[in-house]
Amino acid sequence: MLITLKDVSKTYDPGRETEVRALRGVDLEVKEGDFISVTGPSGSGKSTLLHILAGLDTPTSGAYFFENTDMTRASDRAKCALRRRQIGVVLQDFGLLGDDTALENVCLPLTVDGVSRKKAVARAREVLERMGIADLAGKKVNALSGGQRQRVAAARALSQNAKLLLADEPTGALDSQNTEALMDLLESLNRSGLTIIVSTHNPTVSLRAPVSYSIMDGVLKRER
Ligand SMILES: Nc1ncnc2c1ncn2[C@@H]1O[C@H](COP(=O)(O)OP(=O)(O)OP(=O)(O)O)[C@@H](O)[C@H]1O
Ligand SMILES: [Mg+2]
Repeated sequence: MLITLKDVSKTYDPGRETEVRALRGVDLEVKEGDFISVTGPSGSGKSTLLHILAGLDTPTSGAYFFENTDMTRASDRAKCALRRRQIGVVLQDFGLLGDDTALENVCLPLTVDGVSRKKAVARAREVLERMGIADLAGKKVNALSGGQRQRVAAARALSQNAKLLLADEPTGALDSQNTEALMDLLESLNRSGLTIIVSTHNPTVSLRAPVSYSIMDGVLKRER
């Protein structure tokens, strides 16, 4: 199993007036090659779930294994290394460096991981091309639209040849044509072996994933 979540709960501000139970008793098993959507309304816990899967946040209780790594005990350093090599993440707020160009943003995880500058640039250009934004390579991210930023974030996540792609609302800022194009891309990446978990509000996005879950008030349920 690539991912095993057992009875995972996440409570923000436990015991305080502002307490929020963002995830409740979540069980999830993901095999290599799965393509899964998680659909739920705003505030239902989608981003919380994806952040935990990415190792960017830890559960309040429950178990999370990524392959053989116990993610509730792994060091920040180990989790960082996993995100550089195995887990590509497209966050809802993009997590891009605004003052850097699209190309630099896509190169970053590669060069941090010791890939030569020349190879990183070549790889970055290749994925930007694949996302249909090769012409934006030299533009600063601050000067891009929401949809263009989203594609830079996806290109960055894909640059690493990760095993798992976690995409939080990757089509949220795209029009229907670009949504279809991004889903086509995810489908073809999945066919070539990438495991994908995508969160969405959009029923047409969730329909394109072979396996779909819903999430409501932090409770995850398999729909098909
Ligand atoms: N850092 C935080 N501190 C406190 N509460 C939080 C925090 N992050 C999220 N929450 C709360 O946890 C719940 C789940 O939030 P989450 O961001 O996971 O929802 P979501 O499904 O991603 O929503 P959206 O579709 O709007 O992105 C919400 O009630 C939210 O207000
Ligand atoms: Mg969210």
